[in-house]
Amino acid sequence: MGGALSGIFKGWGGGGAKSAIGLSIGSSSIKLIELKKGKSGWKLLHFGMVALPQDCIVNREIVNPVAVTESLKTLLSQVKLQSRQVCISLSGNSVILKRMQLEVPNMKELQDQVFWEAEQYLPFDVSEVVMDYQLLSKGKDGNADVLLIAVKRTILDSYMACVEDAGLEPGVVDLDFFALQNAFEANYPLQAGESAVVVDIGATAMKLVVVKDGVPVFTKDSALGGQNLTAEIQKHLRVSFADAEALKTGAGGAVPQEVSDLMNVMSENLGREIKRTLDFYMASSSGAPITYVILAGGAAKIPGLSRAVEDAVQLPTQVMNPFNAVSYDPAIFTQEYVNSIGPIAAVPVGLALRAGMGK
Ligand SMILES: Nc1ncnc2c1ncn2[C@@H]1O[C@H](COP(=O)(O)OP(=O)(O)OP(=O)(O)O)[C@@H](O)[C@H]1O
Ligand SMILES: [Mg+2]
Repeated sequence: MGGALSGIFKGWGGGGAKSAIGLSIGSSSIKLIELKKGKSGWKLLHFGMVALPQDCIVNREIVNPVAVTESLKTLLSQVKLQSRQVCISLSGNSVILKRMQLEVPNMKELQDQVFWEAEQYLPFDVSEVVMDYQLLSKGKDGNADVLLIAVKRTILDSYMACVEDAGLEPGVVDLDFFALQNAFEANYPLQAGESAVVVDIGATAMKLVVVKDGVPVFTKDSALGGQNLTAEIQKHLRVSFADAEALKTGAGGAVPQEVSDLMNVMSENLGREIKRTLDFYMASSSGAPITYVILAGGAAKIPGLSRAVEDAVQLPTQVMNPFNAVSYDPAIFTQEYVNSIGPIAAVPVGLALRAGMGK
């Protein structure tokens, strides 16, 4: 895996267990994946997900920790993991990423200098955040290009507490952005100088990362997700949240025309949002042109979304298959099942690969 960023906090590295677990606590559901390292690479051992009751997580903050822990325990009773150590991720407003250009007279003091200068870049007091950084490149003249990562401590603690209360060890904490990058790079090798956009569209948020030469050169978190579509379906068809969800996922049979019209409107909105974001990126960077767009997250399953995004941004667009580089036993998992979980499993796979680094 090329150039993936380290996790924010390295509680354990590698570890003895041969399996690696990614745990994604999303706004609508918790996803868990366990991979095992074999001679020919990573293999899928387990995948499971459990829906969260509504409004347990609001703006990516856990407002009902008891329900999150209980849901996670339910999931753990269904999926018999081989290990307890998991890699989790955060996203949202409590996560701050800043590119910093620094003059670093002595590289040994890089961390001190980054954390010292971080203060002026952060909207929070440094005492309220946990920080990490990644050195992206360094010049001969003592200049360094650094990515500062800061996470609000209270948010981090609330996620860790739920995971621990469910009996797991949250060893590495990553970001959704980096997990997407990891899953993408493992499955879609880029040529040198090429860049791609990876977009996860979840229930309440869209997380976009531009990846180039192993570096997340641009990231954006927007509050647009599948629940906007659910809300539109509820409003127009006068149905409950659960019925609207069933209608859009096809769980209740064929998708009615009204729903599919609303899906098209949603797809166009998402396409426009991605286009706006990429226009901003292109205007603010001298970066290489983007080669293609990869979509992930549950809302990437909206029929016709790839086409709408492709039309909006004028770039080839496809839905991520994070299992290109992960094998599985067809006697346990059917191809159909693996295809159906693909986009939803992107972040969990990225997290598991992060957990498995060095194994
Ligand atoms: N087949 C489908 N068609 C359309 N939408 C779908 C389909 N399957 C799932 N979704 C939608 O995907 C969303 C859930 O995606 P995902 O599990 O990636 O979100 P999350 O991780 O819980 O949320 P977030 O990342 O925003 O915190 C829901 O809004 C759900 O309705
Ligand atoms: Mg998610």
